[in-house]
Amino acid sequence: MPTRYVRDDLLQADAEFARHGEMLSLLNDDALSHWLARFKRSTGEIQQRITACRQAHADSRGAARQRLGSEISHLEAYLEQLSALLAPFGQVSPPETMGTYAGLRVGLAEHTDITGYNTNAHRDWCWGARENEQALAIVSSLLASASDEPIEKVLVLGAGAGRLAFDVHQSLAPMTTLALDINPLLVAIAHTVSSGAELHLTEFPAAPRDPLEVGFRNELALAANAPRPRSGLRFAVGDAFTAPLREGAFDLVLTPWFIDIVPQSVARTASRINALLRPGGIWLNTGSSAFAANRSGDFANPAECQSQAEALEIVRANGFELFDARDDEIDYLCSPHSRQSRRELMHSWSSTKLRQVESIRGVADNRLPEWLASDSEPIPALEAFRYQAEATKIHAYVMALIDGERSIARIADVFDKQNLMPASEARPAIREMLTTMWREAMRL
Ligand SMILES: C[S@@+](CC[C@H](N)C(=O)[O-])C[C@H]1O[C@@H](n2cnc3c(N)ncnc32)[C@H](O)[C@@H]1O
Repeated sequence: MPTRYVRDDLLQADAEFARHGEMLSLLNDDALSHWLARFKRSTGEIQQRITACRQAHADSRGAARQRLGSEISHLEAYLEQLSALLAPFGQVSPPETMGTYAGLRVGLAEHTDITGYNTNAHRDWCWGARENEQALAIVSSLLASASDEPIEKVLVLGAGAGRLAFDVHQSLAPMTTLALDINPLLVAIAHTVSSGAELHLTEFPAAPRDPLEVGFRNELALAANAPRPRSGLRFAVGDAFTAPLREGAFDLVLTPWFIDIVPQSVARTASRINALLRPGGIWLNTGSSAFAANRSGDFANPAECQSQAEALEIVRANGFELFDARDDEIDYLCSPHSRQSRRELMHSWSSTKLRQVESIRGVADNRLPEWLASDSEPIPALEAFRYQAEATKIHAYVMALIDGERSIARIADVFDKQNLMPASEARPAIREMLTTMWREAMRL
C-alpha cells in the first residue's frame, strides 16, 4: 500500500509522519527518541545481566553451569535480534554509562516497556495457533451480527505483534487496515512477519519447563499453509490518543486487550474512538475489563476504575449503541515452554456509532507541554519539582556519605547534626532507603 494512500485516506491532511523502511511512524521525533533511549537502557540492562551471568558461570559447575551458559548465549542472541529489528528506527547499542541512563529514567508510556509484550509476539507467530484461532473466531462472530454495510477501512489500536490485525485483514478483506501500536519493537515484528519474512526471537518464559534451558530461539513466521498475505495492511508506530488519524475515516475500530492497559479513562478512550469512526461505524472491543488493576493516569482516580457494567454505560454515553456482548473463558498466553499459563474470562462487545460526541481530554493526555517537547524552552519551577529536588538531594547526600566505613547510625548522626532529621527517625528511614537500593542493585 503506497504511503500516499494511507496519508490521503486515513491521516489528517497536515499529518507529519516518518518512514522507517516500510513502516510508518506517527510519533513525533521526540517521542521516537524517547523510545530509542528506553531501548538503549533496556539493552544496557541486558548487558549487565550477561556480565553478572558470566561472573557466576566462571565459579559454577554441573547443572548451574549449564543453566548459566544457556542464559548467556540466549541473552547475547536476544541483544542481536533486538538491534536488528530496531535498526530501521535508528542505531541502538548498549549505553556507555548505565548509571546516567538509570538516573534519567525516560517517561514515555511507562505502562509499556520494550520487552513487556514479547510473549504476545511468540503466541502470535509461533506456538499460539489455538489461541489465535479463538481470538479471530470471537471477533468474526461479533462482526457477523454487527452490520451489513461494507467494511473497507479498519483501524486496530494497540495491535501488538499484529496477528489479530493480520487475520482480520485476511478474512474480512477490507481495502485497508491500519494497525497501530506505540511500541516500535512490536510494530517491527508485526511488519516483518506479516510481510512473509521469517525472524528468530528468543523467548524467556517466566517458569521454563526445562529449568536448565531458560531461553528458546523461536522462529516467528506465517503458518506454512497460510494463504498469500493480502495487500493493504499497514503497521504503524503511534499513540492511539494523539496520532494524526483522520477523524470519521474508519468503518471499524478494533481494540484487542487495549482499553484496560492504557492510562486513559474508558470515557476518554470511547470519545477518541467515536471521533475516528464514521457515523454507523463499528467499535469492537475484546479483552480484559480489569480497570481497577490499572493505577496509572486517569485510573489513579478510583471513580474511573469502573466495573464492566459501568464501562458499558460509559460506552453508551459516548455515542455508541451496544448490539452484542459476550464472555469467553479462554487459555491465554499458554507457552509450551513454560510451566505457567493463564486462563482469562474475557469480555467482548460490538457497538455502532450512533452520534458524534465531544472529545474528552483526560489527566493522562500524552501530549507533552511545550517546554518538554522543545530543547530550548525554560523548565517551569513547579512546586512538585521543588519537592522532588529536595528528595533527590537527600538521596544524593546519603549516597555521598557512603565511604565504606560509616554505618547507618553514623549517617543518621550526620543528619541530626545538620538538623535534617532527629537521629532516631533518620535511622529507620535511611535503612529503608538503602534496603530498596540494595535490592535494586542485587537485581541487576
Ligand atoms: C495487552 S497488549 C495487547 C496487544 C495485542 N492487541 C494482543 O492482543 O496481543 C497492549 C498493547 O497496547 C500497546 N499500547 C499501549 N499504549 C498504547 C497507546 N497509547 N497507543 C497505541 N498502542 C498502545 C502496547 O504496546 C501493547 O502492544
